[in-house]
Amino acid sequence: METIRRTKIVDLLKCRDFGAMVNVKGWVRTRRGSKQVNFIALNDGSTINNVQVVVDLANFDEDMLKQITTGACISVNGELVESVGAGQAAEIQAREIEVLGVCDNTYPLQKKGHSMEFLREIAHLRPRTNTFGAVFRIRHNMAIAIHKFFHERGFFYFHTPLITASDCEGAGQMFQVTTMNLYDLKKDENGSIIYDNDFFGKQASLTVSGQLEGELAATALGAIYTFGPTFRAENSNTPRHLAEFWMIEPEVAFNDINDNMDLAEEFIKYCVQWALDNCYDDVKFLNDMFDKGLIERLQGVLKESFVRLPYTEGIKILEEAVAKGHKFEFPVYWGVDLASEHERYLVEEHFKRPVILTDYPKEIKAFYMKQNEDGKTVRAMDVLFPKIGEIIGGSEREADYDKLLTRIQELNIPMKDMWWYLDTRKYGSCPHSGFGLGFERLLLFVTGMANIRDVIPFPRTPRNAEF
Ligand code: 4AD
Ligand code: MG
Repeated sequence: METIRRTKIVDLLKCRDFGAMVNVKGWVRTRRGSKQVNFIALNDGSTINNVQVVVDLANFDEDMLKQITTGACISVNGELVESVGAGQAAEIQAREIEVLGVCDNTYPLQKKGHSMEFLREIAHLRPRTNTFGAVFRIRHNMAIAIHKFFHERGFFYFHTPLITASDCEGAGQMFQVTTMNLYDLKKDENGSIIYDNDFFGKQASLTVSGQLEGELAATALGAIYTFGPTFRAENSNTPRHLAEFWMIEPEVAFNDINDNMDLAEEFIKYCVQWALDNCYDDVKFLNDMFDKGLIERLQGVLKESFVRLPYTEGIKILEEAVAKGHKFEFPVYWGVDLASEHERYLVEEHFKRPVILTDYPKEIKAFYMKQNEDGKTVRAMDVLFPKIGEIIGGSEREADYDKLLTRIQELNIPMKDMWWYLDTRKYGSCPHSGFGLGFERLLLFVTGMANIRDVIPFPRTPRNAEF
């Protein structure tokens, strides 16, 4: 076969250089036609759109043609021609075809319309479907948007460790990391495991958040963000929880809670705008396939400013709803940790736009949040989104050494793990704030997918670590 430089299908479909000889490589989506002429829909992952390859059967070897089945990988040399049919403007009149990889007839993606559950069982192949191609191209684009947003504003990308000895959120939901022989654990006279000989010489785990180290960096570099995987061993089998998820955590010196809310709102809107500007084909595909309200919802959050409301006011609204006969599965009262049905009621039914809930009871929030003068609440902020519930969690941080220490002691957090964190409050402490955006929660919103397992290539959830 003649060597012609490969053109990606995304570029080819924009090309108007009709008559030129081109090469494309990709996987066969469908093949149809008559005894004389066949049409192959070819996709190479560069775009949701396929290129149509027109094949005059008389010009090709019959045995080779038999190998061009759904899923096969082929290389095509041919002439770029103006398409007569509706749809794409350009197609390829094939001159030479090479089958790079035949596709066994056990290929599970033969017909259209597989269920999401079935596709999860073949997560190693699902990126070949239109839906997952679209989702993973959007995932990439969101990562780029995030780096761009912070870079343009002078934030530094700071890498925090994945293995840690401290439980940032204090929820006791960490995966332990050890090289000890679990069949032969050494214990002291009280029956406690001796970690002296473990790899790190102490108990270590996978991190639930990069925030604590992020705070160290913010009090040195001014404004930083982390963007990496985090791990939570919470046994919640919901469409919004993963055991391994990615989080973006900006942390900014001298920002108070209001600056923090401004940053969160600007950040999320930037990402949503980026998706509409740079992933429109993919977003439109998902809109038309699964979720007719998707594009409208994306445009909706861009239009309006987010509601900012203290938790106490939010509880009043929910209690009024209950009094008027609205049924929630979980009870509502001051002090309760809101369930996603409550969050979604505020966003979808009451305000009909995103809500930033602030000043939560300190009992349901982490130790590091700045304490309010009332002694009951902390300067927390959760950003609540339509269809998602909590998409961001953050706060202004307690900058006062004594207050922070008291809170750590009240919660029985082991001091031996926290000394370095407390040092920030001893050596030039400053007001500072930050938040964490769940990357997959953002993707749920932007793609309109219903289950968080379908916006990460290989989901990790309870009893599930295949692939
Ligand atoms: O509210 P969270 O627990 O906050 C923190 O971890 C803070 N250290 C962040 C900070 O202030 N720097 O988690 C932050 C966000 C949530 O709002 C949610 O979007 C996401 O992380 N998240 C999860 N996403 C998927 N699966 C899970 N199990 C998640 N848990 C939290
Ligand atoms: Mg939270």
